Amino acid sequence: MKNLLPVIYIIIFAIAFSFIPYKLSAGEDDLSDLKPLDAFNMISGMRADVKNAMKKSEVSIAKIAIAIPSGDFEAIAEEAAKIDEKYAIEARLTPDDEVQYLSIITTDFILMDQNFHTYVGALVSSAKEKDLENTLIQFDLSLRSCVDCHYDFAKEKFPKLARAVTEY
Ligand code: HEC
Repeated sequence: MKNLLPVIYIIIFAIAFSFIPYKLSAGEDDLSDLKPLDAFNMISGMRADVKNAMKKSEVSIAKIAIAIPSGDFEAIAEEAAKIDEKYAIEARLTPDDEVQYLSIITTDFILMDQNFHTYVGALVSSAKEKDLENTLIQFDLSLRSCVDCHYDFAKEKFPKLARAVTEY
């Protein structure tokens, strides 16, 4: 039992110290580390709007997957443009809310969202150019961005994805 004492002290210290960064980042003075859902919840109506936009993006991405093999570039461009503009996370925010949102959301999340829009925007362009190869590439990158963001930021909503065997 005596031999175990140092181990127990180490465990107690490790647990105590592991809380310190959490406390600091969750402190009321520093809102810049808020997770997306906490940030959405702070702005009236935002969480519901985002969920709605996500559901619509899901429908559009499925339509795109069906339109690609039939070469329906018009439908691809149209649905991708909806995801890029109409269903964007900030789309329904007032300018004031947007300022607040950008000041409280983590940079990681913003960058993830920006990447997503880069690919969806490129999907719109490649479909307009009727460039099949690039359309396939940009579709893959767009879909991967949905997955990447959910993997990092929507684990509770998608627990099966969080348990997936990946190299993430
Ligand atoms: C930048 C991050 C990000 C990207 C990119 C993203 N999502 Fe999401 N998505 C989220 C988050 C965060 C939630 C959880 C929202 C909540 O619970 O309030 C979510 C939730 C959802 C939901 C569930 C909505 C509900 O009913 O609660 C669906 C469906 C969805 N996303 C589809 C998609 C699809 C399809 C794409 C790609 C075309 C996509 N998302 C891209 C962050 C993202």
